[in-house]
Amino acid sequence: MLDQYAVFGNPISHSKSPFIHDCFARQQGQRMQYRAIEVALDAFDETVIHFFNNQGKGLNITLPFKEQAWKLATQKTLRAELAGAVNTLWRNESGEVCGDNTDGVGLVNDLLHNQSLRLKDSRVLILGAGGAVRGVLLPLIEAGCNEIMIVNRTVEKAQQLVVEFKPLLPKSTQLLAASYQELQQSQAYDLIINGTSASLDASLPPVDSSVVGAHTCCYDMMYAARPTAFCQWAVQHHAARAIDGLGMLVEQAAEAFLCWRGIKPETSPVIALLRQSLAHQ
Ligand code: ATR
Repeated sequence: MLDQYAVFGNPISHSKSPFIHDCFARQQGQRMQYRAIEVALDAFDETVIHFFNNQGKGLNITLPFKEQAWKLATQKTLRAELAGAVNTLWRNESGEVCGDNTDGVGLVNDLLHNQSLRLKDSRVLILGAGGAVRGVLLPLIEAGCNEIMIVNRTVEKAQQLVVEFKPLLPKSTQLLAASYQELQQSQAYDLIINGTSASLDASLPPVDSSVVGAHTCCYDMMYAARPTAFCQWAVQHHAARAIDGLGMLVEQAAEAFLCWRGIKPETSPVIALLRQSLAHQ
């Protein structure tokens, strides 16, 4: 029997993970099978345990189970611990369920290696302060940015993230929180990351366009077949670049593959294939 892997979510039919991991497995000559499984909302823990007790080697976890996976994993990486959410599970030799969160490193790898951006000493603006943003903060901090400003409608949530992550900051990094109103007439940022869920209903976070300069790169953690509302906004305001989160999706999968198989697959051919297949949808 091939080694079994799966992504658990609800709903799950839209998931690109089976396509991505099939590409990785073929590319690396790994004998494995990866499936998308819809898990009943009230049966997450038992479905995970059943999977691992029946030859399951590794799981990806997506909405709405990432926090539950975090609770279930008894061993976690530091980045998963701080993220409060887990997207990758496996079992160690002692049978303990282990968890990682590869979203942040996926984002940073996409920015650095696929987009050739420089994060060191840069000024970064993050829109949103929910689970998606919490999940990527530590890897962004570790990338050596000079300033990370978190802006959120509910400013208290941004302030809370600053309090929690402040002890982890290197001396050269400032972590700040603000409301959208406080960012009026702001100096332009090097990088703006949209981590809000606004793109889901094609709406925009109410951010003042003064944050965009001619050198600014705008990055939407969401992706779609067509440019997202945030990417369109970036182009309208003459940002240097507007990038969606497709590369992040493939990079987080590559880090999960590395956790399970000890091999880091090549991501760029898979990103290109996925982009092509999206264009035909
Ligand atoms: P996720 O897991 O996707 O991060 P979440 O934890 O519910 O989901 O967080 C959603 C984030 O998107 C929050 O920061 C939310 O702002 P509030 O905390 O003020 O609610 C933000 N968000 C959602 N829709 C938005 C919109 N139309 N404009 C601005 N921010 C929005």
